[in-house]
Amino acid sequence: MKATQAYIQANKERFLEELIDLLRIPSVSADPSFAGDVRKTAEVLAEGLKHVGAENVEICETAGYPIVYGDKIIDPSLPTVLVYGHYDVQPADPIELWTSPAFEPVVKKTEIHPEGAVFARGACDDKGQMFMHVKAFESMVKSDALPCNVKFMIEGEEEVGSENLGIFVKNNHERLEADIILVSDTGIFANDVPSITTGLRGLSYVEVEVTGPNRDLHSGLYGGCVANPINILSKMIASLHDENNKITIPGFYDKVVELSDAERVEMAKAPFKKEGYLKALDIDEVYGEAGYSTMERGSIRPTLDVNGIWGGYIGEGAKTVIASQAFAKISMRLVPDQDPEEITQLFYDHFMSIAPVGTRVKVTPHHGGEAAVTPIDSVGYKAASMAYEKTFGKKPIPVRSGGSIPIVAMFEKELGLKTILMGFGLDSDAIHSPNEHYGLFNFYKGIETIPYFFHYYSELLKS
Ligand code: BES
Ligand code: MN
Ligand code: MN
Repeated sequence: MKATQAYIQANKERFLEELIDLLRIPSVSADPSFAGDVRKTAEVLAEGLKHVGAENVEICETAGYPIVYGDKIIDPSLPTVLVYGHYDVQPADPIELWTSPAFEPVVKKTEIHPEGAVFARGACDDKGQMFMHVKAFESMVKSDALPCNVKFMIEGEEEVGSENLGIFVKNNHERLEADIILVSDTGIFANDVPSITTGLRGLSYVEVEVTGPNRDLHSGLYGGCVANPINILSKMIASLHDENNKITIPGFYDKVVELSDAERVEMAKAPFKKEGYLKALDIDEVYGEAGYSTMERGSIRPTLDVNGIWGGYIGEGAKTVIASQAFAKISMRLVPDQDPEEITQLFYDHFMSIAPVGTRVKVTPHHGGEAAVTPIDSVGYKAASMAYEKTFGKKPIPVRSGGSIPIVAMFEKELGLKTILMGFGLDSDAIHSPNEHYGLFNFYKGIETIPYFFHYYSELLKS
């Protein structure tokens, strides 16, 4: 292990330069105008894997963007770790809010990252974190210290729902045989409070449309006489939460697994500082479901949020008009054991039922996914915990996250494999937001911690 860590220290600067090169390619999966760049990223990644000693490297075509596969099987009787990550990124907009261009990475110091952070779309989610695995692998291979087999499966459609990954996994059971899946696409509590993610929320995402009159109308001539789709949509959306901020869709909470008091007490031990939270977001109070803490609201409780809403006149000045249509995109974050399809159906039935006369409502479902929880008494969790303890000098705490990685539940169903979520990002890294960044401390800590995971995991399985 000494040689591996020495190799990392000796090659740190180059690792960062290589990451910066990867971040320069705008691999935005949601926008077809970047298709060439997304593919280019897959090629660069495949070359990078080959270069550091991966075998059977293949750019696996799908109906969408390819999946990059590569492996190194040193001995079939040893355990196999399957590393998953994604090389696609979210769109950069609104681009005018970036302090430096999204695809021209620069290292800047911040209050939270005094040693510097690299600013670019995908820096944390997930190129920076995925690339830590490539460099940790390189370091283990070059220092002759790879203790077990490794397989890489890096996809290019995570940010758009991973539809083709599901098909790939179904068709490649044998190639993907492994003992455990390792993913770095989540975060830690703070740089001095290491944590391991033990849960992810599920997701149901819908788009709604309210149509009133067949054309835009003069709001003086027709105002007060017909249903205004924007007024109606606002009212319908407002009615989806009650005065306690509970979601009003009948049956929505029926399958929600409630945590025991003991589990809630355990959760409350995380050193959440409300003051810092308010300050970082420039708000004067938190807001949410009555009876739950902010940590709970953001992880073990389901939510419903409007992600976008539009319609009518939004140009300069005032235009007196009643729009013919109004639209919104709505996400529901789900917890165990809510079923995304069932929740989408419940939403559909309810939303249709509250549409007033004089309007037509349409609900279109988008991608979704199930929540996932990982046990903390498994060999994989223990190995991860030991690895973090080694490099951070502190035992990590288990934390359930509010984000979603729908493929984690899918991997378990399809491959029968548990996932270890060894993330190193911070909530303040602005993923999906302007000025996304990833701390150099976090990048290097990740590269240092991953080989320890491999080491402890192999050792624990031996005994
Ligand atoms: N890496 C994130 C999810 C995440 C981030 C989980 C931080 C926990 C902590 C992932 O890339 C993502 O953005 N997922 C989407 C869902 C997906 C189906 C588009 C999400 O959570 O909105
Ligand atoms: Mn991600
Ligand atoms: Mn993401």
